[in-house]
Amino acid sequence: MIETLLKALPSNFPLIINLSHQKGGVGKSTLAYNIADAFRNLGFKVRLLDMDAQNTSNGLNALRKRAFTDIEKVIDKRRLVEIINTSSTDGSEIFIIDSGGFDLALSRLAIMGADINLTPVGDRVTELLGVVQKYSQTLEEIETTTHSSVSSYVLLNRIHPFAKHFEHIEEMIENSPKMAMLKSVVRERAIYDKSFIDGRTVFEADDIEGQEVAMDEILSVCYELIEIYLEKG
Ligand SMILES: Nc1ncnc2c1ncn2[C@@H]1O[C@H](COP(=O)(O)OP(=O)(O)OP(=O)(O)O)[C@@H](O)[C@H]1O
Ligand SMILES: [Mg+2]
Repeated sequence: MIETLLKALPSNFPLIINLSHQKGGVGKSTLAYNIADAFRNLGFKVRLLDMDAQNTSNGLNALRKRAFTDIEKVIDKRRLVEIINTSSTDGSEIFIIDSGGFDLALSRLAIMGADINLTPVGDRVTELLGVVQKYSQTLEEIETTTHSSVSSYVLLNRIHPFAKHFEHIEEMIENSPKMAMLKSVVRERAIYDKSFIDGRTVFEADDIEGQEVAMDEILSVCYELIEIYLEKG
């Protein structure tokens, strides 16, 4: 199944994935940095665009012994438009955008330019409200002003390793226009912060406990994104 998906993907390159939420600290940078490495490990040519005012992806890269060469800091709309417009001839296969935690014109542009928007969120009701009320309203505003269609997939992140029932969350998300829920869930794992000490991803942290489960969760997100993208056609 996964092999079939991976084989089908190249004829649909590039795939632009945007990690986006107006709320800070939900895991956009953590996930962008690790999802980018998952795709590198699957053999794809990746480009990670760091639009985060916190400079997280770029900052982590600076901590590395050997820096990734495919991370670019993007701070203005002109550059982002240029990258999106030339993405099909750029040679990169997967673009990952690490959006900042603000509702800025730049982040709205990324939402419009992406093939898939991914919105990380925790499982607390108050956090979920921020998505189903505020974030989905942003999507509707974008649609109204641009007459284009935008949507986003909610990715549950930092979920307790033993938590099992997400039906109430699913209902909240699915009832919200423009939002759908990813089946994959990323759990709260200490390995993210530990591996970040020297700018590593979980894929490089074979000395840290919990690597296998963390890698599996990130890869499951990647496979699901590919599936969604190929289904959209
Ligand atoms: N699944 C996880 N397990 C454990 N810690 C996590 C997980 N996801 C994120 N974190 C931690 O949560 C904190 C916030 O994450 P991150 O910086 O990625 O959020 P962000 O959405 O990019 O924030 P901002 O909007 O401020 O840029 C970080 O310390 C990160 O290591
Ligand atoms: Mg960030």
